[in-house]
Amino acid sequence: MKRSWFVGGLIVSIGTIATLLAVMYLLPLDLTERSPVQPLAFSHKVHAGDNGIHCLYCHRYAPKSTVAGIPAVADCRSCHLFIAPDKPEVKKLIAYWDKGEGIPWIRVNNVPDHVYFPHMMHIRARIDCGICHGKVATMERISRTASLKMGWCLDCHRQHKASIDCWTCHL
Ligand code: HEC
Ligand code: HEC
Ligand code: HEC
Ligand code: HEC
Ligand code: HEC
Repeated sequence: MKRSWFVGGLIVSIGTIATLLAVMYLLPLDLTERSPVQPLAFSHKVHAGDNGIHCLYCHRYAPKSTVAGIPAVADCRSCHLFIAPDKPEVKKLIAYWDKGEGIPWIRVNNVPDHVYFPHMMHIRARIDCGICHGKVATMERISRTASLKMGWCLDCHRQHKASIDCWTCHL
């Protein structure tokens, strides 16, 4: 009698754990930070929005490389030697330059190492940055707007009749 209670309990617990795991797998849980606090308060609204600086002025590799590229401190400095040099966050920027250090920006959009994502193929297919990255020119602090999950890639590839073969994205 005791033994059957024990077996019953065991089956119930295993069942519960299995269901929990299945639910965790099926739900598109997205627990990574979408808008982390950056080491320096760089505003896309001020640069790309208010002052109309083009995305490709800073992210200049996007049309020709897999990565879009983040501008180096030297690129920031070339404007900020003259523009707003007395603002505290700009002084912070010059301090990085003086120390010869890069700004340790926290990465916001990321796919795992086993996934191949080429920016240039998408720019050449005339997909606007905003379709994947949202209204960046209105963001004080950059925020990830897409899940970047496999289903997200596949949905759009199906729409555009782009390849959905596994080896397109998994090398
Ligand atoms: C004056 C230079 C500059 C301009 C112009 C600019 N960016 Fe950026 N961008 C940066 C810097 C610096 C970072 C890294 C710091 C941060 O995340 O805010 C960044 C980060 C990003 C990121 C997040 C990178 C990551 O870690 O995933 C995206 C997406 C992005 N920019 C898109 C755009 C788009 C779209 C435009 C045009 C609407 C644009 N940027 C215009 C300098 C610029
Ligand atoms: C093409 C010129 C240009 C480049 C390149 C540029 N900026 Fe700026 N930045 C501006 C302008 C214009 C303003 C607005 C100044 C103002 O409102 O007085 C500004 C404002 C700022 C501010 C002050 C925002 C505030 O109001 O407190 C910071 C901080 C800043 N930029 C950081 C950066 C960083 C970091 C980079 C490099 C990734 C960079 N900038 C590259 C033109 C530039
Ligand atoms: C089809 C969707 C898509 C489009 C269009 C797109 N991106 Fe991205 N972007 C991504 C994905 C996905 C990542 C993460 C890639 C990785 O981790 O390798 C990313 C990462 C980035 C990053 C951070 C790392 C890097 O590549 O340097 C920046 C900056 C960026 N994008 C800017 C841009 C800009 C600017 C444009 C438009 C010229 C653009 N992106 C167009 C999907 C897109
Ligand atoms: C908004 C639509 C859209 C999204 C989202 C998108 N793609 Fe694409 N992708 C395209 C289009 C359109 C092409 C171009 C197809 C062509 O030129 O034949 C393309 C091309 C590619 C190629 C090159 C295919 C080839 O035949 O060489 C790769 C690799 C790729 N995408 C990976 C990804 C990955 C990985 C993601 C998700 C992280 C993603 N894409 C998200 C629309 C998208
Ligand atoms: C258009 C791009 C694209 C194509 C095509 C694609 N994948 Fe993926 N795949 C991704 C991305 C992005 C991720 C990482 C994000 C995630 O886990 O959803 C991923 C993740 C995975 C993972 C790991 C899941 C995990 O938990 O990390 C497996 C396994 C996988 N893909 C298998 C496949 C198989 C099998 C095919 C072919 C039927 C395929 N993929 C086709 C983009 C793609």
